[in-house]
Amino acid sequence: MRHLIAIAALALTSACASHASMAQQSREARGQTIVEQNCSSCHATGRSGDSPAPEAPPFRTLSHNYRVDALEEALAEGISVGHPAMPQFAFAPDDVRSVIAYLQSIQNELPPPPQE
Ligand code: HEC
Repeated sequence: MRHLIAIAALALTSACASHASMAQQSREARGQTIVEQNCSSCHATGRSGDSPAPEAPPFRTLSHNYRVDALEEALAEGISVGHPAMPQFAFAPDDVRSVIAYLQSIQNELPPPPQE
């Protein structure tokens, strides 16, 4: 089932990400597994539903306040900054890229392209 969801997510984003590939697809699936295991006790990690912890933003809305790719550094260094209610995480660089790829795939409102 997770793979089917990831494939659907890829289909939705591939219009603007023409370089989407099989590698990208499995990266998103891996990122989804990581956030489901580490973050879903507090955050809504999918395309719908409310966060179990009311103060924790659903991941699909992160791009309303952040550039999702800017989270890469925060995830790699341990995302404790400005985040007191949350346990500290530090992920391996490859896992960080997977989480970012997944988060980008579920944003319900994409930020404007940087070259604007
Ligand atoms: C124990 C509960 C809990 C877990 C587990 C958790 N979070 Fe959070 N998270 C929160 C809360 C509460 C907030 C909002 C309040 C705040 O900013 O302190 C938040 C906010 C965030 C934000 C918004 C940025 C910010 O600093 O406000 C991001 C991004 C985030 N979490 C990512 C993650 C990721 C990625 C994971 C899993 C690796 C995760 N969280 C796991 C509770 C949690």
